[in-house]
Amino acid sequence: MKILFIGDVVGSPGREMVQQYLPKIKEKYRPHVTIVNGENAAAGKGITEKIYKQFLEWGAQVVTMGNHTWDKKEIFEFIDDAKYLIRPANFPANNPGKGLVFINVNGVEVAVINLQGRTFLPAIEDPFTMIDTLIQQAKKRTNIIFVDFHAEATSEKQALGWYVDGRASAVVGTHTHTQTADNRILPKGTAYITDVGMTGPYDGILGMQREAVLKRFLTNLPVRFEVDKDGRAQLNAFLVTIDDKAGRALDTKRVMINDDHPFLI
Ligand code: FE2
Repeated sequence: MKILFIGDVVGSPGREMVQQYLPKIKEKYRPHVTIVNGENAAAGKGITEKIYKQFLEWGAQVVTMGNHTWDKKEIFEFIDDAKYLIRPANFPANNPGKGLVFINVNGVEVAVINLQGRTFLPAIEDPFTMIDTLIQQAKKRTNIIFVDFHAEATSEKQALGWYVDGRASAVVGTHTHTQTADNRILPKGTAYITDVGMTGPYDGILGMQREAVLKRFLTNLPVRFEVDKDGRAQLNAFLVTIDDKAGRALDTKRVMINDDHPFLI
């Protein structure tokens, strides 16, 4: 089982990159499942129903979220009907939506889990305790378990990777928007990367217009951040090959597409 994961899609430049490159990436790597983190897809914050459906049309099977899940108010209208949209499972129990979804690929089930870290992010439920429960639930149906851990701190992401080594097939980090070169397979078979990186503006600062972010650093005054639509764009993704029966990762690969790392067929 090959799973492709596209990192945080930011605004329209990110969506255009997915639409343009996903078919090419699929042709080259032939993933069985594609997962997209869409929590920044609508103008940098949140997601709309239209965008969620576009991701599925363009070839994704699951869309994951993060700390911006609720930023577009219309999510409350459609999240319960959006079967393949998941948000961090450790949000308060009464929140709408879910954090675990199963998809069926030619008779083989894949569990996808979304969790959020608590270091430098809101103090929600403990992702470590939560993942024990989720893995237990998932294992009743499949050994192929893919986790998007949306977190700020590298230490928290590494800790979760090691915590589930041998129990989950892959733990990929999102949220910090810059791809890390530490992809590996942990000793008991869990694929790991601290951050997949973002998809969207390449010349902004984490996808936002540079001028505004610089002004915030230089003045410490409140500044409105907008998605950078003037510069070039990038796409960052992660590919993992998993043994169907055992659920162990066999291979990992980073995908980075930008003007400095062009896409080669
Ligand atoms: Fe985030």
